[in-house]
Amino acid sequence: MKREQWATKVGLVLAFAGNAVGLGNFLRFPVQAAQNGGGAFMIPYLFSFLLLGIPLMWIEWTIGRYGGKHGHGTTPGMFHCMWSHPISKYIGTLGIVIPILIGAYYIYVMSWSLGFAWYSLTGKLTQLTTPEQVKAFLEGYQGVVKNEYFTSQLPAYIFFLIAFLFTIYIVSRGVVKGIETLAKIAMPTLFILAVLLVIRVLTLGSPNPEHPEWSIDLGLGYMWNPRLELLKSGKTWLAAAGQIFFTLSLGIGILQCYASYLREKEDIVTAGLATASTNEFAEVILGGTIAIPAAVAFFGPALVKKVSGFDLAFQTLPLVFNHLPFGRVFSTAWFLLLFLAGVTSAVALSQPFVAFLQDEFGIPRKKATVYLFFILFALSQPVIFFLKYGFLNEIDFWMGTFALVIFATSEVIIFNYLFGTDKGWEELHIGAVLHLPKVFYYVMRYITPIFLLSILVYWTVTDAVPTLLMKKYSPEQVPYIIAARLIIVLVFVVFAYMVKVAWRKKGGVKA
Ligand code: ALA
Repeated sequence: MKREQWATKVGLVLAFAGNAVGLGNFLRFPVQAAQNGGGAFMIPYLFSFLLLGIPLMWIEWTIGRYGGKHGHGTTPGMFHCMWSHPISKYIGTLGIVIPILIGAYYIYVMSWSLGFAWYSLTGKLTQLTTPEQVKAFLEGYQGVVKNEYFTSQLPAYIFFLIAFLFTIYIVSRGVVKGIETLAKIAMPTLFILAVLLVIRVLTLGSPNPEHPEWSIDLGLGYMWNPRLELLKSGKTWLAAAGQIFFTLSLGIGILQCYASYLREKEDIVTAGLATASTNEFAEVILGGTIAIPAAVAFFGPALVKKVSGFDLAFQTLPLVFNHLPFGRVFSTAWFLLLFLAGVTSAVALSQPFVAFLQDEFGIPRKKATVYLFFILFALSQPVIFFLKYGFLNEIDFWMGTFALVIFATSEVIIFNYLFGTDKGWEELHIGAVLHLPKVFYYVMRYITPIFLLSILVYWTVTDAVPTLLMKKYSPEQVPYIIAARLIIVLVFVVFAYMVKVAWRKKGGVKA
């Protein structure tokens, strides 16, 4: 079956950037930076970007393009082409399991921004004036409680269905007509909205009449003044590495899948750099200027210190906008921005499953999308209805944090030590205008794997083991947490079995 290819260079860079630019840029980054040294955070951040992010990104692009050449759009086939041991394809199974399980909750969370954009536009959200009211609004919307704002989860469910069907529709149209076209429309719109919000935030002055001492200058200072003493803490360095992972969407299986649709001689050195730069612009310049500075200017540094990225988006910022002239416009723009950032990542999370069915089973795209519809829909249901029992957080921890590092570590080992760094380096440079300095060869071969292994060991000890032992859960949550884990295991087993069947059908050949 002939595989699709990205139609234009601009389109492919925007599609890759759409996958990278997400909630992480506008919510996660500012909170991480502000809490871990402000301007000083940029030192470990840059360090991680150069030694972990960029090399890993090039490795994933190279693996993807190489796999695509051999007819594989997902990592079971790609890893097997690079290392013929039977186990390689089962390690690669993670590159389908991780995105589909992240997708199962990502679409729901992204649908909240769609819902909130709607309630901003229609005024239901923008008439709220106190933190308590906005909190009650969000909890009512999520179905955590019934209150005067929402008596059921139905509105949230309807917005979920819209976001879900839209994602499926885009994927069903294919890589060029669906994903690339969406990126070409959504990404410029997103940048326009972000610039509009940046301008509004920078002209806030001192927006809270009760506290004239709180200003946008104070907000920018809170965000960016360097606190160099925090560089001594290992936590700061880990936070930076984690953010780089998250923001560039590494270790998920998406970059490899997207790269499988590149032309054989596409310059991945520069296209990769263009994508990463677009993402960093959106993160550091735009993301670093909106949420935290605005919240500090309005609520003061003491309150902002306590909020998470998520609360910042859905509770704190709407309140800031509600107190401004044309608040409705800015609040709608804000949630639309988050929705666009989310939807380009949601289609990316859905594509590996479809590619897997197309490439390994010869199933036509439309039919593969119907299967995607059923599996993603089924997996989303417990996330939606068991939200208050920690179901979503549990899947997010294992798939959205931990599995990424395991997967990335495995692929870096396969790339360097089983496929061979020399061969990989050569593959990376096919069609490249720029020949990378040799220092990156050594970084890829030695530094990146060591960096990854250190993160893996640290997270296993500090997070994974305590989470596995369920230390932080109430007895009421335990059955739901166990159910979440069983689902993860079940999904992995089912996909591993499918991989086995696919290879048996092909008689175990590589391509
Ligand atoms: N890279 C995506 C983000 O930053 C996941 O949100």
